[in-house]
Amino acid sequence: MKFFIDTANLEQIKEAQELGILDGVTTNPSLMAKEGISGHENIINHYKKICDIVDGDVSAEVISTDFEGIVKEGEFLASLNPQIVVKVPMISEGIKAIKYFSEKKIKTNCTLVFSAGQALIAAKAGATYLSPFIGRLDDISSDGLTLISEIREIYDNYNFETQILAASVRHTMHIIDCAKIGADVVTTPLSAIKGLLNHPLTDSGLKKFLEDHKKSNS
Ligand code: E4P
Repeated sequence: MKFFIDTANLEQIKEAQELGILDGVTTNPSLMAKEGISGHENIINHYKKICDIVDGDVSAEVISTDFEGIVKEGEFLASLNPQIVVKVPMISEGIKAIKYFSEKKIKTNCTLVFSAGQALIAAKAGATYLSPFIGRLDDISSDGLTLISEIREIYDNYNFETQILAASVRHTMHIIDCAKIGADVVTTPLSAIKGLLNHPLTDSGLKKFLEDHKKSNS
């Protein structure tokens, strides 16, 4: 399973990259705004900085919602760096654009996915990645993980190559459950990745090992 970090914060991206387990980054307009990145030039420079930090794919979201606008923006974003994946919303104009990008061999991430039907359409259009938002489904008392299972089954039935990128991940159990189901990628906040490292028995065990070493070597 690939690990992406879901942030536009350069320090957090660096920290995850230094852990040695990072496969990519996802951003969205809200995450860019959270970092105070605004204006076309600043946004583009920020994507370039992210690409310089990580080795893997970096999702950059289009703002346009019409086919021509999405294609123009997406082609420009993709020209910045081969790592860029054009993030396109799950709307009919977006699906047309994903089909177009797929024929041009431009990588895409179909975002704002909340149903198996949407996932089927995005795969047929040739999306590279599909982003079902599991946390936002959980937020409205629906079941995000059930959606991941349904999409896994559908994609396996027809050998779709679109990678399931579980998004809107809120905590470490989401990551573990996505791994059990067979999501291809999870994109998560740094806190959830770091949460996977922790166990109280690791901490107490290490403390005891170091104390015993100190006693017998002093
Ligand atoms: C990632 O691609 C999504 O934009 C992101 O995971 C959404 O997460 P949120 O529901 O926490 O905003």
